[in-house]
Amino acid sequence: MSTKRVLVAVVLVALVASGCTLRRTAARAGVFVGSAASPAYFSDATYTRLLGDEFSSITPENEMKWSLIHPAPDTYDFTAADAVVDFAEAHGMRVRGHTLAWYQQNPAWLTGTAWTRDEAIELLHDHIATVVGHYKGRVQQWDVVNEAFRAGTYQRNPWYDAIGPEYIDLAFQFAHEADPDAELFYNDYSIEWHSPKSDAVVAMVTSMVARGIPIDGVGMQMHVTGSGAQKWDAPDAAALAEQMARYEAVGLDVELTEMDVRLPTPATEEGLQAQAEAYRLAGETCVAAPNCTGITVWGFTDAHSWVPSTFAGWGAACLWDENYRTKPAYGALRQGLATGWPA
Ligand code: XIL
Repeated sequence: MSTKRVLVAVVLVALVASGCTLRRTAARAGVFVGSAASPAYFSDATYTRLLGDEFSSITPENEMKWSLIHPAPDTYDFTAADAVVDFAEAHGMRVRGHTLAWYQQNPAWLTGTAWTRDEAIELLHDHIATVVGHYKGRVQQWDVVNEAFRAGTYQRNPWYDAIGPEYIDLAFQFAHEADPDAELFYNDYSIEWHSPKSDAVVAMVTSMVARGIPIDGVGMQMHVTGSGAQKWDAPDAAALAEQMARYEAVGLDVELTEMDVRLPTPATEEGLQAQAEAYRLAGETCVAAPNCTGITVWGFTDAHSWVPSTFAGWGAACLWDENYRTKPAYGALRQGLATGWPA
């Protein structure tokens, strides 16, 4: 194709894409676009309209974590998580279940006891069989184990302490047993570029695949920052693509599972532009990678984002601002996704 024709094609795609939701743009590129969501905001009509119209996937932000779904040894409470799954079904969305083993948001009854190895295995089995079983056929993708590594070494948690690293294999086996059709993911942060941590995760999942442990993919959380002059200091597209390719080489899918781009507040115009570029590159890199199944943002509006309360002095991390106005990041992500449209 001549340069002129390529230019015309690019402009046409941009024009058509600008009339589309993120959801339609992503579908045409063959990937999911999702958001973390919480039923706490379902009474907000703008929130639910945008969530259902713009996204094709949903991740319960907290509702499936141990402390909420398994508050007492013999009590499971599915009320809040069911509300998220019901919303997804009413809007034809995929659900990413999050998460079955993590070191945070665990109930005191779990963390306050020194379990024997056998007890811990039984607990993990019971929890996963019950939760994954409850959502069998309704939750398509699970973050089975979340954040098992610190840098290049294992993160302690109740199962690691009682069972050792083998708890990870067991969790995947238990999840597969409970829903053989669900896609099972390992999920972690700061693995979007080459580092001792990303090496440790690649080594672990490669060994799992070789040993026949039922794992389908790796979630890269993609909580990234603007810093200094509010430049994006996350990996560039080439570094991200390289990490995605390492998983493709062992037959695993990848998904960007919790993307947000936090900025020092108040955000500047320069920061918002750098942020937009980060979202655009993420969308573009995912649709260009044959094994990337989608991109999920960790909340879509600055009105309801975990960032300001977690990172003092930071915020403005989402695609919509706190008044539900789209930010430059919104159009940029859509443009990035549109580069995956079939010619
Ligand atoms: C966060 C939620 O967004 C907050 O509401 C909660 O207080 C703490 O957890 N990595 C993860 C997510 O895997 O589960 C975390 O979610 C954000 C970091």
